[in-house]
Amino acid sequence: LNYLTPKSRLEVLDLLVTGLKRLEYRGYDSTGVAIDSPDSKNIVMVKRMGKVKVLEDAIQEHFTGGEYSEPVATHIGIAHTRWATHGEPCERNSHPQRSDEGNGFVVVHNGIITNYNDVKTFLRKRGYEFESETDTEVFAKLVHHLWKTHPTYSFRELVEQAILQLEGAFAVAVKSKHFPGECVAARRSSPLLVGIKTKTRLATDHIPILYGKVLPRSDSTSEFMPLEEKEVEYFFASDASAVIEHTNRVIYLEDDDVAAVRDGTLSIHRLKKSLDDPHAREITTLKMEIQQIMKGNYDYFMQKEIFEQPDSVVNTMRGRVRFDGNAIVLGGIKDYIPEIKRCRRLMLIGCGTSYHSAVATRQLLEELTELPVMVELASDFLDRNTPIFRDDVCFFISQSGETADTLMALRYCKQRGALIVGITNTVGSSICRESHCGVHINAGPEIGVASTKAYTSQFISLVMFALVMSEDRLSLQQRRLEILQALSNLADQIRKVLKLDSKVQELAKDLYQHKSLLIMGRGYNFATCLEGALKVKELTYMHSEGIMAGELKHGPLALVDDSMPVLMIVLRDPVYVKCMNALQQVTSRKGCPIIICEEGDEETKAFSSRSLEIPRTVDCLQGILTVIPMQLLSYHIAVLRGCDVDCPRNLAKSVTVE
Ligand code: G6P
Repeated sequence: LNYLTPKSRLEVLDLLVTGLKRLEYRGYDSTGVAIDSPDSKNIVMVKRMGKVKVLEDAIQEHFTGGEYSEPVATHIGIAHTRWATHGEPCERNSHPQRSDEGNGFVVVHNGIITNYNDVKTFLRKRGYEFESETDTEVFAKLVHHLWKTHPTYSFRELVEQAILQLEGAFAVAVKSKHFPGECVAARRSSPLLVGIKTKTRLATDHIPILYGKVLPRSDSTSEFMPLEEKEVEYFFASDASAVIEHTNRVIYLEDDDVAAVRDGTLSIHRLKKSLDDPHAREITTLKMEIQQIMKGNYDYFMQKEIFEQPDSVVNTMRGRVRFDGNAIVLGGIKDYIPEIKRCRRLMLIGCGTSYHSAVATRQLLEELTELPVMVELASDFLDRNTPIFRDDVCFFISQSGETADTLMALRYCKQRGALIVGITNTVGSSICRESHCGVHINAGPEIGVASTKAYTSQFISLVMFALVMSEDRLSLQQRRLEILQALSNLADQIRKVLKLDSKVQELAKDLYQHKSLLIMGRGYNFATCLEGALKVKELTYMHSEGIMAGELKHGPLALVDDSMPVLMIVLRDPVYVKCMNALQQVTSRKGCPIIICEEGDEETKAFSSRSLEIPRTVDCLQGILTVIPMQLLSYHIAVLRGCDVDCPRNLAKSVTVE
């Protein structure tokens, strides 16, 4: 929403498309954009199947007239890149969705409106015909219906009344030809922020919240509490990467906030005020840099993020681990440590890769805290209505901090009185804000859909937590020292592992035409098997399975023959003998495993003609060094198979729907 400097519609479109490119990792089935027509009386939409690049080309074809390059003082445009939930990916189902053929109200939406069928039936009875299979379309049509039936309502009030009728999760931005120069956005459960760009620094760091019933339209100027600055550009976006090249000043909206912009002023409104509700929303300054969300010299974000790991692991530990004094301070949870030490059990909850970081560190947490540790997939945890008690401590691990399943599990545990600890990579995210305390993993923005550096940083964050919990345990000091020592060498060892890249690429050439890949290990490396198999599935669409080597004889061994690709992790740790056992079971069935072993371990290497040697570290950190060859392997197989590494089919980075 531009009130700052006159921009042409083409410039506005360019800005929207660049914003979409930054958000593309969240979904890339189809895209769309809506801006005003040259006479500002209508709304023009362009929608396309596929990625943002296709939309960009279509925009160039569509908006050719000179009038689109003339500067206009005020302009509002909305755009969307979709990850299909309701309705197949196609132009008709892509956003913006509209209220009527005249494009009276157009809306972009993230999330799922769960009662959309009821609303659809209600609207059909009132003569509305639906043109898409999306849940979003009911939103546009409901606002239109309210506009017709409540002619005095302001634009913001229409949206507010609409969301009162809706259930589920949403972040929406609505534009209307009946309210030119205005835009209204609202959220519930799905993330939404407002970026604010002004020529000079704003005189305030807070936008007051307006509560309660709204005044009729004729009187509604008082609804808008203007920022002192009139020359301003506003951005509504799902996450900061879309706005960071314009401004680092943002407001994170809360559930059921309705934000409206009119005549260059922003107002934030809520229908109800409860006792502890604040009076204002704070404008925060982001630390993110634009370079962090650019690919640089790498071909793919994922590749860049794999190679960033020597730095990202150091950033996770920075200011927290003092290697000289053997001290660890986790500022975000230090006040809660005494309470955590008294707890009944620790629960680690997450999805996908984040869940694997919990699997990877569970054993160490059990060892250093001497507490029962449960590791749960958020969706399954909720399905089971797992009993939770006031003296439970629940960790919610999430790169994005927005994963709907994890967030729901968090709310479930919070309601039951447990202490909520967030382990996230995204400052200001929902999980971060709804936790009692937490650790930012500080890995920097992760754009590649397949998570890599966030995993290793989550891993280290949980290791640091285990070290904090055992600080005053005399019997564990030797073990703690050993781990601290290993942490201090980790970045260099990761650099060494990354040097295996070309060797891994050669292995990928052997594997990429196969249908399946089994990855076996146990103990501290079982999580690497699960995570490695997930990476292979996500990126290459090959079947892959992470197998607990102890379970081999209970089933998976039946899969092994001379043609099934098998990768085995066999390190010199307490389960070495058992892993060797499994290795022999595989080779005696004519399997030809690729072995990941420790540098210089000739005895183990002798079992195969193909191996990768990684540096030796303490057992509980091996998983960091063994997962990197898996990340590289899946990356190279994906490239060889011609897959889109950063945008694997059917997946999205941040899944804000259940
Ligand atoms: C999606 C992503 C995965 C990720 C998972 C959990 O499925 O594709 O890469 O591991 O969500 O995401 P979170 O942001 O909660 O870590």
